[in-house]
Amino acid sequence: MTEEIETRIQKMDRSSLRREDFFKAAEILRNGGLVAFPTETVYGLGGNALDTGAAARIYAAKGRPSDNPLIVHIADREAVVRLASEVPEEAWKLAERFWPGPLTIILKKSELVPDGTTGGLSTVAIRMPSDEIAVALIRESGLYIAAPSANASGRPSTTRAEHVYQDLAGRIPLILDGGPVNIGLESTIIDLTAGVPMILRPGYISMEQLQDVLPNAVYDRAAVSRTADSGIVAKAPGMKYRHYAPKGKLIIYEGDQESVVRAINEETKKQCADGRRVAVLAAEETRECYICENVKSAGSRRDEETIAANLFELLREFDEEGAELIYSESFETVQLGQAIMNRLLKAAGYHIVRV
Ligand code: TXA
Ligand code: MG
Repeated sequence: MTEEIETRIQKMDRSSLRREDFFKAAEILRNGGLVAFPTETVYGLGGNALDTGAAARIYAAKGRPSDNPLIVHIADREAVVRLASEVPEEAWKLAERFWPGPLTIILKKSELVPDGTTGGLSTVAIRMPSDEIAVALIRESGLYIAAPSANASGRPSTTRAEHVYQDLAGRIPLILDGGPVNIGLESTIIDLTAGVPMILRPGYISMEQLQDVLPNAVYDRAAVSRTADSGIVAKAPGMKYRHYAPKGKLIIYEGDQESVVRAINEETKKQCADGRRVAVLAAEETRECYICENVKSAGSRRDEETIAANLFELLREFDEEGAELIYSESFETVQLGQAIMNRLLKAAGYHIVRV
């Protein structure tokens, strides 16, 4: 067990950020310590990307397996040539279109990047976030910042400072509180070291948008799989772990809307009668159709941005309420829906009932 330390939450005023606001955080990072900070996707748990000790502390704080590599966050494009040993033209094209923003690019790593940061891989994941607090922190520290999502390993990613505190209090000295994040799902990851550009994790930047720049981009099969098929090995090591999981058992129902509602209602009625604490995760359009007492709407099916922004928070709320069984509707897998379903499937351990 590591010793408990006091975790401070520093509120950041986005309308008037000052350099001084970042001095403490930057100092902690330069000394090899950890700071949680907001990005436009989810909160990150940052440490100096070039310091093996800092990487080790990140793994320890999250309780994360150390073969699961970290994303290196940068504030300037020039950093890419320092962190990568080869930068294909495709990388610059993607950077031109999508950086700063929620896209992570995997390249061959340079000597500068320690194995401790990449989980022993010869490649490095690089992202230039757009969130101004993230950018200012990178600049003020003068470092490249390795940052996984700031949740305890296996739990839903954190979209608010309070979630970070729930998971990591006592393990890190400082959380920069920039309020709720914008997007709510982690970045899209694309690997440029595999021959064809391969999307390892769907995210806010969709397949369609990526293909607009790189028409030959494809999905890694594991990234869009609907089963925990052991024959498919995920290329992003992190995608193989059970993830985002609430404490209760989450089950996804798939089929036409009426059948899904009917099946979930039958099941919740039965489970409630058995004294189980049940909950339903629905879209706004169908929330009124359920008999269960605890129904949460993630948002309208016409507004996937809202569903994405709410998903992880709702999974955490179910935990707080002690839900033992959570029945969820499924969502369309086009554009942002692909990322939403990817996270939901993982949270459910790929448990889908087709009706
Ligand atoms: O939006 C995001 O990407 C957030 C924010 C904080 O930037 N970060 C994030 O990090 O989601 P994390 O560690 O939770 O997820 C990183 C994923 C993992 O699945 C990891 O296996 C994969 O990226 N990854 C990192 N480096 C890789 C590499 N060199 N090759 C393949 N996959 C890699
Ligand atoms: Mg994560």
